[in-house]
Amino acid sequence: MIRCENLTKHFGELTAVKQASLQVDAGKVCGLVGPDGAGKTTLIRMLCGLIIPDSGEVWLDGIKGTAAVHEKLGYMPQSFSLYPDLSVRENIDVFAAMYHLDRATVQQRADEILEMTRLAPFTSRLAKQLSGGMKQKLSLSIALITRPAILLLDEPTYGVDPESRKDFWQILYHLNSQGMTILMSTPYMDEAELCHQVALINQGEIVAVDSPAALKSRLGGRLLDIRVDVKDPALFHSLAAVQDATFFGDYYRLLVEDPVAGLPAIEDYLKTHKLSAEIISAIPSMEDVFIFLAESKGDSARERIDAEGR
Ligand SMILES: Nc1ncnc2c1ncn2[C@@H]1O[C@H](COP(=O)(O)OP(=O)(O)O)[C@@H](O)[C@H]1O
Ligand SMILES: [Mg+2]
Repeated sequence: MIRCENLTKHFGELTAVKQASLQVDAGKVCGLVGPDGAGKTTLIRMLCGLIIPDSGEVWLDGIKGTAAVHEKLGYMPQSFSLYPDLSVRENIDVFAAMYHLDRATVQQRADEILEMTRLAPFTSRLAKQLSGGMKQKLSLSIALITRPAILLLDEPTYGVDPESRKDFWQILYHLNSQGMTILMSTPYMDEAELCHQVALINQGEIVAVDSPAALKSRLGGRLLDIRVDVKDPALFHSLAAVQDATFFGDYYRLLVEDPVAGLPAIEDYLKTHKLSAEIISAIPSMEDVFIFLAESKGDSARERIDAEGR
């Protein structure tokens, strides 16, 4: 439904997006997850046709290019400019007019959308008097006025309080249950868990695309938490079996090269250094996945992900 191949965009010297390839099947919710500056907005804007890529192709609903499917595409930009002195309903009307929708159609759709986003009691409230979460819901309502089959959302939950984020996700699930294909970007790792599919993006590169469970299973058995009475962040750095070690103040989280050979190697090391430790197998969070798969650049984890992920 949404597909791109080798999308690249440079801004002067900077490569904002590098050879990004992604496919989101119809009816799926895909999260484009990565930190600030990773290239999320640039990639989404290329998918909508708002930025011309330096190279690469986009297909939407099987059609090459972005122009042909304009009405099928709903887009909610990262910073949506609502008219502050217009009401909720008037903001919708202004944007609906741009799509040349007739009054009766707008009336019917707006009622339906405002009901769904639970903004119906606030139709006459001025946009400037809405909370952050409500502003985002209004921006979403506007993106829905053309009844798009594909929805592209750029960081819609950024800076929004946790309750409103939950609320927003419920609306997304509702839309998805009606068949809408959704791609949304977010800097929040925990939101990745809520998607069918996750594309991890770091420094302009998509480093992995998979389901949250499959991404986590790539760390299967390789993540160990160790409590030792030594506070030395470099304690495990010399150990070849340990690919990455993070010190969390009272424990170390280690990523071992090999889930079978890793543990005995660590036990040997501790014994040699006469250290007693408690070792438990850790359940990876999406943040662990990101740190170890995306940020450990240039090391073997990264190379492996690239090899598997393409
Ligand atoms: N119009 C632009 N001109 C120059 N640099 C840009 C422009 N847009 C984005 N960038 C740069 O490209 C990189 C990716 O930005 P962006 O796509 O906005 O990332 P994200 O949305 O993940 O925060 C950043 O380093 C940003 O500063
Ligand atoms: Mg952005």
